[in-house]
Amino acid sequence: MKKDLLSIYDLNKEDIELIFARALELKKKHKEGVSHRSLNCKTLGMIFEKTSTRTRVSFEVGMFQLGGHAVYLSAEATQISRGETMSDTGKVLSRYLDGIMIRTSSQDRVEKLAASSTVPVINGLSDLLHPCQILTDLFTIREKRKNYCGLNFAYVGDGNNVTNSWINAAIRLNFNLNIGCPEGYEPNERIMAIAAREARSKIEIIYDPLEAVKNVDVISTDVWTSMGSEGQEEERRKVFQKYQVNAGLLQQAKKDVLVMHCLPAHRGEEITDEVIDGPHSIVFDQAENRLHLQKAILETLIKD
Ligand code: CP
Ligand code: NVA
Repeated sequence: MKKDLLSIYDLNKEDIELIFARALELKKKHKEGVSHRSLNCKTLGMIFEKTSTRTRVSFEVGMFQLGGHAVYLSAEATQISRGETMSDTGKVLSRYLDGIMIRTSSQDRVEKLAASSTVPVINGLSDLLHPCQILTDLFTIREKRKNYCGLNFAYVGDGNNVTNSWINAAIRLNFNLNIGCPEGYEPNERIMAIAAREARSKIEIIYDPLEAVKNVDVISTDVWTSMGSEGQEEERRKVFQKYQVNAGLLQQAKKDVLVMHCLPAHRGEEITDEVIDGPHSIVFDQAENRLHLQKAILETLIKD
């Protein structure tokens, strides 16, 4: 049966560990110039209903390096923009392609596409979740710190798609996660309820950002205004002011704290230049690893 990646919940710990191990091998092969064309002649369709730099380039280049081909499908240039349903789009694209990646607004659209497709569907970001990003982030931590188990994580900023996927990962992989966000900007309620019910680790909302990062090993942040919430920038800039990841905030964390940001960053808002370009930042390794990690995902889902 075909397997999708719509949420980190589609994977168990063992699947995730296998993906991490394969990503490491693929990264090594790539760096050493060793051919690894495991998806020879396979094709991936990439539907984008929102903009992207990293997701588009890393998936497209990833397919090429694996011996396959990626087809970029912007919503505006396809019949999606004229109202063709996700369900019909999935049925048709499955007749041409070996896999589909989609970046869109509602998680419901991702799920409708997956339900009608006979090929694997990968969530490349919805308003609710960003699973490929958080899997990459944990892979990056694993490279830097050998493991993510036993580390304390803090996410500081808006309770958005990135935060929700961090929570899913903390539940699945059992690590402690503090969420430092303002009141009214908490992560998804349903996901928090699952955390309260199922998590064996500590997953907490801590409204005071200084308290949220106290003694943590990793601080992650993201933009204060996500795609689709344009128009709220001014209001959010005010509300989030004290949630900026800056040198003062870092002082509360462990001395060797790692700082992450999925990018694109709004420098001077959620993170200062000093921090993003400073010695604690691993954001560009994180960005690079989207390529290696997603190649492992593509292989896992698409390979015969
Ligand atoms: N982090 C991330 O998904 O970046 P893009 O929006 O550039 O794809
Ligand atoms: N939360 C951000 C992530 C961008 C990669 C957004 O949805 O715009």
